[in-house]
Amino acid sequence: MTQPTLKPKNPCFSSGPCAKRTDWELSALKDAALGRSHRAKIGKAKLQEVIDRTRSVLNIPEDYKIGIVPASDTGAFEMAMWSLLGERGIDIFAWESFGDGWVSDIVKQLKLEDVNKYEADYGKIPDLSQADSSRDVIFTYNGTTSGVKVPNTDWIADDREGLTLCDATSAVFAMDVDFSKLDVTTWSWQKVMGGEAAHGMIVLSPRAVARLESYTPAWPLPKIFRLTKGGKLIEGIFKGATINTPSMLAVEDAIDGLKWAESLGGLPALIERSNANLETVKEWVAKSDWADFLAESDETISNTSICIKIVDAQHISLSADEQNARAKQIASILESEGIAYDIGSYRDAPAGIRIWGGATIEKADMEDLLPWLDWAYAQVKEKAQAA
Ligand SMILES: Cc1ncc(COP(=O)(O)O)c(C=O)c1O
Repeated sequence: MTQPTLKPKNPCFSSGPCAKRTDWELSALKDAALGRSHRAKIGKAKLQEVIDRTRSVLNIPEDYKIGIVPASDTGAFEMAMWSLLGERGIDIFAWESFGDGWVSDIVKQLKLEDVNKYEADYGKIPDLSQADSSRDVIFTYNGTTSGVKVPNTDWIADDREGLTLCDATSAVFAMDVDFSKLDVTTWSWQKVMGGEAAHGMIVLSPRAVARLESYTPAWPLPKIFRLTKGGKLIEGIFKGATINTPSMLAVEDAIDGLKWAESLGGLPALIERSNANLETVKEWVAKSDWADFLAESDETISNTSICIKIVDAQHISLSADEQNARAKQIASILESEGIAYDIGSYRDAPAGIRIWGGATIEKADMEDLLPWLDWAYAQVKEKAQAA
């Protein structure tokens, strides 16, 4: 197979930290409030600006609280679980590595016992209709490591008694997330918006706030997890008075990303860009004789973390280790050619390729990448046959 000639202008296709917007330069951060207290007027205003622009771009209801918290998405989600869970039984849905991690924390760390686990293997999704609206429901909106997303949130009852806690880190800004269905939503800045990693975002519905103010977990909470004081929500956290010191450089970059989103036309434009990237991959998969989506059902195929498995009969007759080694070779050939960085599947996921398709990825780059995948796969196969 002849080597393609066109190269993606930006080879960054990692699923986190994700590519920065095209044209991003360090000068985008020149107005950062560096060397200033984050509690000074300027620092607080910047943090509040992130909250306000986030609300506006994502259409988050006015009566929901938006906070910037420590330790990225993990910090935000752990904080929610440790602060809210244990009040009632839990239904947890998991179908890949991150969802599995939340199951493990609930069962092994929080040691909660009234837990129904609904789990599915990579590529599949559990039966979401099993969710019991009288219980707390935990799920990951988009399974970043399997490229399987929830098709919608219609299965969540409007009149639920329990809370829904959703890790939406690779979904927000790329999917039409209906916040009325979610009581806790978390994410981090380095995903769809290509921001700098550090801080987590947490969004609380009025019912989540009511739980925080009426329920005290049986276990101690470290300071960086505490959302209440004396039984009342710490309102300051949701007005830019962060629990501890944030990076004002990362904050400036988050503002830059949000301004970029607004300049494109807001959420619909971000979703459209991501969907166009997925469409490009779908067209390629439809013609491919070796690649397919890991997601088994069309409505669950992620438009952000697009996971591809190798389905060539000769390949799947190989041992798991050999399949893994070949998939890794594809990623490493493309990295050394400067075509695509970090596109090997996640360490716990089945061997394959994972291509980020969020809004910061240009469709033209996606189009230029795909022939290289065919070429790299042919190289790996030829080399193996020659050996
Ligand atoms: C679904 C999901 N949850 C949690 C995380 C962890 O996020 P962070 O590194 O921002 O804490 C990731 C990171 O890729 C993820 O994809």
